[in-house]
This record gives sequence, structure tokens and C-alpha cells, in this order.
Amino acid sequence: MTFSHVSVLLKETLEVLNVKPGGVYFDGTLGGGGHSAEIAARLEGKGLLLASDLDPAALKAAGERLAAYPVEKRFFRSNFKNFSALIAEAGVEKVNGVLLDLGVSSHQLDEKSRGFSYQADAPLDMRMSDEGMTAADVVNTYDEADLRRILFEYGEENNSRAIARKIVEQRNVKPFETTLELVDTIKAAFGGRYTDKNPARRTFQALRIEVNGELAGLSDALRDMADALAPGGVLAVITFHSLEDRLVKQTFKGMIDGCTCPKDFPVCTCGFEQKVDLAFRKPVVAGKEELENNPRARSAKLRAIIKR
Ligand SMILES: C[S@@+](CC[C@H](N)C(=O)[O-])C[C@H]1O[C@@H](n2cnc3c(N)ncnc32)[C@H](O)[C@@H]1O
Repeated sequence: MTFSHVSVLLKETLEVLNVKPGGVYFDGTLGGGGHSAEIAARLEGKGLLLASDLDPAALKAAGERLAAYPVEKRFFRSNFKNFSALIAEAGVEKVNGVLLDLGVSSHQLDEKSRGFSYQADAPLDMRMSDEGMTAADVVNTYDEADLRRILFEYGEENNSRAIARKIVEQRNVKPFETTLELVDTIKAAFGGRYTDKNPARRTFQALRIEVNGELAGLSDALRDMADALAPGGVLAVITFHSLEDRLVKQTFKGMIDGCTCPKDFPVCTCGFEQKVDLAFRKPVVAGKEELENNPRARSAKLRAIIKR
């Protein structure tokens, strides 16, 4: 299967990153290398491109694509949350730009065997990497209260209680192995009363977030990245669901109005120092043309900060 992924908010991201030849850039979510290829082209043979991904297939495909660009590169099969260690390994202290294009690639969604889709029958996997706990492990081993919490928090699923109960009931008959077994159980928990096209969407989102630890440690990683920016450097983040976007928004907000002094203090005494500015007041979303060509862009939001 060829690696297919259309980069989201490509023009807008490149605009805010404002890549300078000779600079150091870190793409934490390499994927198909679409954003990285544009960064590499703008480096004009000078500077350094560092990139990480959890998915060996992404690293292979992007590595081949980026070979055409004559600029120094280092790829890491790693979680971008290891950012500080990765740049240290590359002998770098400051970076001029960081990009996170969060979530899964179209390739991962399309590759049936990975089990991300609630529309195709496949093993219940959902891992971005080929290591660690699968979605089947979660639904077959977590206790009912934990399942309910995950579905509610990560899926914003109002019917989390009934779904968690049904999952436990069903796994006692036979442990879950496939995506469609889980979809049937979710539908049964709704008793046929749902208005969405597929009531499994929120549960699948929740399981994907849990399996890949998508939200845990994201704020800390953003702070590490902001700390490592050189003056004028940019941290750009593209999110695809409200939980992730809220987390990015709040983390950036904390970097900007983190002063904890009482409002009536004439001067700041808490020691907070604002080191970054927001690149845009509101998140950037896809324009009409992109939305027509790439439905995946519908939920995308780009936020960015610039180092003072
Ligand atoms: C939306 S795709 C990126 C697409 C890429 N920007 C492009 O234009 O081709 C997200 C990629 O990030 C990877 N990923 C998601 N979370 C990650 C994490 N915490 N650490 C490293 N890679 C991650 C996924 O495996 C996937 O390949």
C-alpha cells in the first residue's frame, strides 16, 4: 500500500513557521513528510531538519520522500514528547521552529489492519506504533469504571455508562477481537436509539486517545518545546478534536498570562516572565478550497506561539 496523506493547513503552517535557510526545525509528527518536505525545500540546503514519528511505516515513507532534499536531516522513531532528549542527541540546544500535526495520518486510518476505523472490520488494535497495549487490551481488561471514565473524558460520550456496562457484559461471553464486534456492542448499548450515522465514533476516539496516550504529557512537551525556541522561533500545533485543542489553547494561555499575582497588585511579584506571544488571536482553520478537497481538514485548528 502506498503512503497517502494530504497535509492539512499546509500553506498556513508554512507561513507562520517562516522557515529561514540555515535554521533548525523539528517536525514531531512526520507522517507522510508533507509538511517536512516544504520545510526542507525552504532550508535551501542549509540548516537541519529533525523529525520524529511513532510509526515505522511513516518514517520509511517520509525518509524516501525527503531524500530528494539536500539538507541535513535526522529521523527518530520516537514519541515527540521526548523532544528535549532528541534535540540533545542531535547536539542542538535551540530550534527555530517546531511543528506538531497531531493525531493519525490518513494512511493509518486507511490501512484497515490498524483497526482505527469503525467502518471496516479489522483487529481491534489502534496503535500508532507497533508496540504497547492495543484497543482490544483496553476493552478486555480495564474495569467498568475506568472504561466509563475514558469514554466520558476522551470521547465526550454521554452514554458512557451504558456502553461500558455492555462492553463488560459482552467480553464475559467472548473477549473482543475485532472492530465490528465492538461497534455492534456499542450499537446494542444505545438500544437502537441514536441519531448519529455511527454511534461508535466517540468510543473509537476515546480508545485511540487512551491506547496512544495522546493527551498525557502533551502540555509538558509543549512547554519543553517553547523553552527551546530561539528568539523569533515558532511552535505551531495542528489539532483535530476539541480536547486536544483545549489543551493546546490552555497551555499557550498559561505561557502568556501565567502571572499569579492578585489583580490589584501594582507590580508583578510572582516572578512570571512572558517569553512568547500568540501568532494569532483565534485558531486558523481550513479555507473553503481546502475543505472541498480534503474532508479531514474540517476539524483542523492551527495555533502557534512566537518566542520573544
Ligand atoms: C496527521 S499525521 C502527520 C502528517 C504530516 N504532517 C504530513 O504532512 O504528512 C500524524 C503523524 O504523527 C504521528 N504521531 C502522532 N502522535 C505522535 C507522538 N506522540 N509522537 C510521535 N509521532 C506521533 C502519527 O504516527 C502520524 O504519522
